[in-house]
Amino acid sequence: MARYRTPACAPADVRIRHIAAYDWGAIAALEDRAYADRELAEGREALQARGRASPGTCFVLDADGAPEGYLLALPYPRFRCPELRGAEEAGHTGDNLHLHDIVVAEHLRGAGLAARLLARLTATARARRFRRISLVAVAGTAAFWTRRGYGPHPDVAPPAGYGPRAVYMSRAVSVSKEGG
Ligand SMILES: CC(C)(COP(=O)(O)OP(=O)(O)OC[C@H]1O[C@@H](n2cnc3c(N)ncnc32)[C@H](O)[C@@H]1OP(=O)(O)O)[C@@H](O)C(=O)NCCC(=O)NCCS
Repeated sequence: MARYRTPACAPADVRIRHIAAYDWGAIAALEDRAYADRELAEGREALQARGRASPGTCFVLDADGAPEGYLLALPYPRFRCPELRGAEEAGHTGDNLHLHDIVVAEHLRGAGLAARLLARLTATARARRFRRISLVAVAGTAAFWTRRGYGPHPDVAPPAGYGPRAVYMSRAVSVSKEGG
């Protein structure tokens, strides 16, 4: 992943909170800006379905009162992942938490805000006794995830909708408090 500048104007007040109904418009707009040019955007209905599947493991990044990022995660069987743009299948259980999507608004990238979202995810996973966190790295982001402790599973092929460079990855949820 390319290096980017540190934001000129970092937000003074950053909170990570659960997603409220009024956040979904902003979340869909963030998603569209992040992925539309890579043809990976799912759209509001699909995003909301992820949120409904597991509200306790989905978060919005509130920066000076505005939603400027989000993270959607849900329990999902290991080595599988949701179809992009698909309706969410309800009721997965088990000890694997799937990080379906994380986005930070472009003008705030490089300031450690994704790290803060990921730290919240890890703490939540630990508290809820998940043993692993999985994800699909899209469009060349695998190195970003490797640096955050995720390892690839080359034998697991993500659905074609994730694009030709998609890589299924996972990491253990450590019992210690460190790590994001
Ligand atoms: C990936 C993403 C969430 C990182 O958010 P962030 O808040 O900038 O991340 P942090 O500041 O915590 O960490 C900075 C990392 O992001 C990279 N980065 C910084 N600014 C970036 C930018 N404008 N665009 C892409 N990556 C950027 C840096 O190289 C750094 O990686 P490194 O520490 O491994 O070298 C963000 O770039 C994003 O929303 N990208 C589009 C959506 C996406 O690709 N999500 C991941 C799908 S698998």
